[in-house]
Order: sequence, then C-alpha cells, then structure tokens
Amino acid sequence: MKSFSIIGGVPLFGSVTASGSKNAALPIIFSTLVTRGVCRIGRVPDIGDVRVAIELISELGAKVRRVDGDLYVDTRHLTYRDHSADLCCMIRASTYLLGSSLAAFGRCKLPQSGGCNFSPRPIDMHLDAALAFGGERAGEYLTATKLKGAVISFPKPSVGATINALIMASVAEGETLIRGYAREPHVIALSDFLISAGADITFTDSFVRVVGRELHGGDVSVIPDMIEAGTYLTAGLITHGRVTVRGCDPKELSSYLDLLDRLGADVTVGSSSVTASLTGDPKPVAVTAEPYPGFPTDLQPIAAPLLSFAGGEIYDRVWQSRYGYLRALEPFGIRYSVTADTARIHPSVLHNADTAAPDLRGGMAAILTALMAKGESRVNSAETVLRGYEQPTEKLSYLGAHVTLSDP
Ligand code: UD1
Repeated sequence: MKSFSIIGGVPLFGSVTASGSKNAALPIIFSTLVTRGVCRIGRVPDIGDVRVAIELISELGAKVRRVDGDLYVDTRHLTYRDHSADLCCMIRASTYLLGSSLAAFGRCKLPQSGGCNFSPRPIDMHLDAALAFGGERAGEYLTATKLKGAVISFPKPSVGATINALIMASVAEGETLIRGYAREPHVIALSDFLISAGADITFTDSFVRVVGRELHGGDVSVIPDMIEAGTYLTAGLITHGRVTVRGCDPKELSSYLDLLDRLGADVTVGSSSVTASLTGDPKPVAVTAEPYPGFPTDLQPIAAPLLSFAGGEIYDRVWQSRYGYLRALEPFGIRYSVTADTARIHPSVLHNADTAAPDLRGGMAAILTALMAKGESRVNSAETVLRGYEQPTEKLSYLGAHVTLSDP
C-alpha cells in the first residue's frame, strides 16, 4: 500500500497545466468498441482508471498503443469474451461495457463495477435504456441480435446512463431520442468523439437526436479535467498561496469560481487559465452540488477543507449521502456535523495527522487538509488517489509542496 507523506503549512505558488479529464477519457476509451478502424485519443491522462479501461478493451481484441499523451486504439479485430470480473470491480467506468459491448457484439455480461463507493450507485436506468434498444436480459447477460433506435426518457439526469445510451444509439438501426439527458462536459466530449467516428448526433435543449450509423476510427483530444483544475486552485487557496491552472476551460469551472467569489477569493480568469488567491478573511459559504451546470459533486469533497476556515454548508443533490469522506478528515481536527442530507463544516483549528484515502475525491480532500495543517501527515491508500489524478506528487511539488509518495 502506497502512502503520501506531506509536510503542511507551506504556501503553494506557481502554475500547473490541467491533465485530460478522467471522466471524459474513460467513456471515450470504452466507446471505441463500437467503431471499426484506428482511433486516436489525444491528451489521455496516465492514471490508474485509464490503465484498467485499456486492459478491459484489450481483452476484447482492441490493440492499444500509447505515444506520449495520445492513445491509438485499433478496433479492426475485436472478439467477444466475458470480461475479467476483477478488472471490472476496480473501476466504476466498467459500467460503460454494458452499452459498448452490447452494441459491438450483441452480448454483454453484466459488469460488476467498482470505483468509489460513497453511496449506493444503481444502474437501473442503464439497463432500462439497453432494454429500450431491444436488449434482452438472460441471467447475468444482456443480449441483442440488432439494437434498434428508441425513445428514451430518463427520470433524472445520469451521466453514466446518458453515456451508455449515446454509445448504443450511435450504432443502433434508425433514430433515437434521449430526453432527460445529462449535460456534463464529459457527455459532450464523448459525443464529439463519436461524431468524429461518423456518428450523427444533435443536441437540443430538451433531447438528443441520434441516427445510427456504422462508425469508423475517430479522432479527438480529451477535454481538460475541471475537477483537477479546481483541486489545484484549492491547494493554492488553503495554503494562502496563489496558484494558476493553465490549459483549463474557465466556463466549465464557473460554478466553482462562483463559490470562490462568495468566499472572498481574488480570482483572475483568462481564456484558458484561472489564478486564485485569498487575500482577506474567508467568509462562510454554502455549496449545493447539482447536475451540470451546477456545482460538480466531485468538487464538494475538494471544497470541504476550504470551508474549514470560516465554516459552511454542503448539500449534495446528486449523491445525498456523499459525506463519508469527512471521517477521514476528522484526525486533522476538522469539525463537522451531518444532518439528514446536509454537512456543516465548522471553523476548525487543524493539526497534522495520519489518515487513509476513503475514495478518490475524499483522498484528495485528505491531502489538501494535510497541506493546510502544520507538521508531517500521512495519507495512506494512495492508489485510490492515483486512480484519478495524474502525477499529483509531481504537480504539488512543482508548486512548492513537500509531498512524497512512498511504497513501504
Ligand atoms: C456522477 C456525476 C458525475 C461524476 C460521477 C462521479 C452528476 C450528474 N453525475 O456520475 O459528474 O463524475 O458521479 O462522482 O453529477 N442514478 C439512478 N439510476 C441509475 C443511474 C444513476 O438512480 O441507473 C442516480 C444516482 O443514484 C445519482 C444520480 O442518478 O443520484 C446521478 O448518477 P450518475 O450521473 O449516473 O452518476 P455517475 O455517472 O456515476
């Protein structure tokens, strides 16, 4: 088990470049299975979840080559086989096999996906979509002779279910309408890839219209990771430093920048960069995590250490019980209370401590808290953080943090 050692209380200054988005790269990688040709996917982050996704599509015959940040995926000779359950259990994104394997082979063993278990994560809407396209459930398999276009109305926006529906619709026979779809930038990024592979996808305010086609190899560059960008901006703020994130899309960060504004931070926005620092006393703030363009649920654990200055409230409307990570911050002296669906963070005096990453974003929240607290801290289960952050030790060290990764 790897762990991060952190000597906190050091202000972080400088700039880092955002990596490609984990949540955009993963669906694109799985969706290559419905193309036939050679796909190029640029700016793919070298992180644990991506490595597992590559292994999963390689099991199905995809030939994958990484050249610097680009991934080349040759899907000309795919063959169905049941995926390895142990690989599937490592990442949540293995749920995308449901749509991509069913569409590519007419068969899919229902994936037992893993990833962060901060809340029950149902897949009923993914299954309903597969059945609407003509899939049939047979024990632990979904099968279909030919997927047919369908009208799908999701009762609430689900990133995962929208992604599976888009993948299936792209190659299903005829027209599909998807209502109640999720509008996250990673959903649009997946569509851009599918369109580059020949898909016919049109977004309107109330639905997505897809006309099925045979897809060739696609070519796209992964969008910058807005969650990672928010993470490094936060690292600068909580240490009373000043960090610039370059190569990001400030528009996608607007709900987070609004939080910084209400907190009293000094924020400078460029065309593809953001700089933030805290000059005055931070104010208490409330955060509501909501589907895009609302505040991203993945950034609420990252915001929690910021709220420990002056206190604040977190209400997550996407995952109502996503507050378990606060237990991992308790050893540092973070004071909080959780009632029904709201977490209250109280002004806290922090000290160094040892803890373990409870999940990906909760693990990064622990690293951020350790960066605030004077003295040496340890965050165990570092692999959990490395699943979704590219070179966090290097990036934080570059900003002046005293962070090392050890492998005892
Ligand atoms: C969600 C986030 C995504 C984030 C990811 C990891 C949103 C809308 N989605 O994506 O941005 O990257 O978590 O933190 O912010 N649901 C069902 N049935 C289903 C699928 C989902 O009821 O079949 C519910 C979930 O319980 C949840 C909501 O829909 O309350 C959103 O889930 P969904 O968007 O599918 O989650 P992820 O795709 O995992």
